[in-house]
Amino acid sequence: MKFARLGVNIDHVATLRQQRGEFYPEVERAAEVALATGAHQITIHLREDRRHIQDRDVPVVHNMCQKFGNPLNLEMGASEEMIQIAIKERPEWVCLVPEKREERTTEGGLDILDPKNFERIQKACDEIKKGSPKTKISLFVEADEEVLQKCLFIKADAVEIHTGEYAKDFLDKKDLIHHLQRYRKGCLKMKSHGWGYHAGHGLTFESLLPLLQEGDFEEYNIGHWIIAESVFIGMGHVIKEMLTLINQHPLKG
Ligand code: PXP
Repeated sequence: MKFARLGVNIDHVATLRQQRGEFYPEVERAAEVALATGAHQITIHLREDRRHIQDRDVPVVHNMCQKFGNPLNLEMGASEEMIQIAIKERPEWVCLVPEKREERTTEGGLDILDPKNFERIQKACDEIKKGSPKTKISLFVEADEEVLQKCLFIKADAVEIHTGEYAKDFLDKKDLIHHLQRYRKGCLKMKSHGWGYHAGHGLTFESLLPLLQEGDFEEYNIGHWIIAESVFIGMGHVIKEMLTLINQHPLKG
């Protein structure tokens, strides 16, 4: 039996770190915990404004992935700066995502039907493949037939389907059938061309379930929910430890 892979996105560990400007919580430790628990890959998004992941985090997280023999999936915009970082770091996967407003569709995926964007993405993929031939590339797009058809003209290896609208409709208790039908159609198309079919954005324990039951996606990249839920699963343990420490030290006065 084959199961889907889980890529754990640890961006928001870095968000928490950047909030205080301290060295903790360390993304290296987050990657270690995720991989030691069985996560299949670590995903980080190096944004142009460096709002969470920093340049120095990329080799540190990559080293941790290599220690476990698991891939690093580097999400990035298709800018020249990011392309050079990818070529230098040589991650196992690069996921090209929209960085600016004009690069994305209303749903949030790469606006690949825009000829300018298409050309830029195509050029970025060619450059990455030339500079780091072993790096595989996924394109963060919507499960739209025309979009997926256009992707096939690009030298990439997979699409990552933007599940943001689906996840939002799930939370709003709306009908999900049209999303699932679109995902299935896209899956058949991309798999028939030997492409990987991944998914990500906004997924929770509950909204992941129907997608797992459909069994179309071979990889999920999930971050925000994992970090958010970890707060509650971990909080009790941390408070207990702190109280133990306090109660070992009676007041003097
Ligand atoms: N996949 C891609 C391409 C993303 O940009 C993101 C968000 O950074 C994710 C997956 C993870 O989304 P979330 O944090 O909502 O689970």
